[in-house]
Amino acid sequence: MKIGVFDSGIGGLNVLKELVNKYPNNTYYYFGDNINIPYGTKSKKELKLLSSKIIQFLLSKDVDIIIIACGTISSNLYMEIKTKYNIPIYDIISPTIEYLNKSDFKTIGVLATDMTVKSNVFKINRDIYQVPCPQLVPLIEDNLDYIPALNKYLNKLPEVDALVLGCTHYLIFEDYLNNLNIKTINMGKILCDKISINNGNECKIRLYFSKVNHNLITNIDKIIKKDYQLEELCLNYQK
Ligand code: DGL
Repeated sequence: MKIGVFDSGIGGLNVLKELVNKYPNNTYYYFGDNINIPYGTKSKKELKLLSSKIIQFLLSKDVDIIIIACGTISSNLYMEIKTKYNIPIYDIISPTIEYLNKSDFKTIGVLATDMTVKSNVFKINRDIYQVPCPQLVPLIEDNLDYIPALNKYLNKLPEVDALVLGCTHYLIFEDYLNNLNIKTINMGKILCDKISINNGNECKIRLYFSKVNHNLITNIDKIIKKDYQLEELCLNYQK
């Protein structure tokens, strides 16, 4: 199968990694819109324009399905996007909401972008503590030390039964948080358990980013441990 995956930058690569682990023999087209990062503080109108250009690009590659590996687009635009196109489109947040609703967790923390928190998508029938974390995505993309900022945001939370990494960039904190004995919820893993994809014959990973530089390559190599092709591609964002 041909599978399209997208995010504002490298965050969705954490989801791609899970997809490739579980469904290795497929052709993956990944678009990371890092020239427009961060998405988490953009207006819904801007997010709509940016995501529709990316989806058009992925459709031009003849993908069979698209995965929105961005919490911000998922929480604000999924319903709209889902009904607009003729191929199956999955978002990264709904499977996690379903999972949380079935779980025994009483108190749940959520770290996410401003726009995801504002969307109220995580307001379910539990004690939910949401913390918007605007500093994290730029630090992660620039390959800088994000631990002090992360600790600052963690300090805003009470003790919780589980902590949702509500922005796909934050999945890189998983090991750090687990070492602190914090139970984390990985939306990428939950999505992979929910969907089912037929395997083809070989694994191909094509990565497209709107801006390619040294930091990007370092970041990709930290997450994707398989061969990939990388291309710089700036979409035409005009209406
Ligand atoms: N990784 C994205 C998300 O899951 C976008 C983060 C951003 O660009 O602010 O929300």
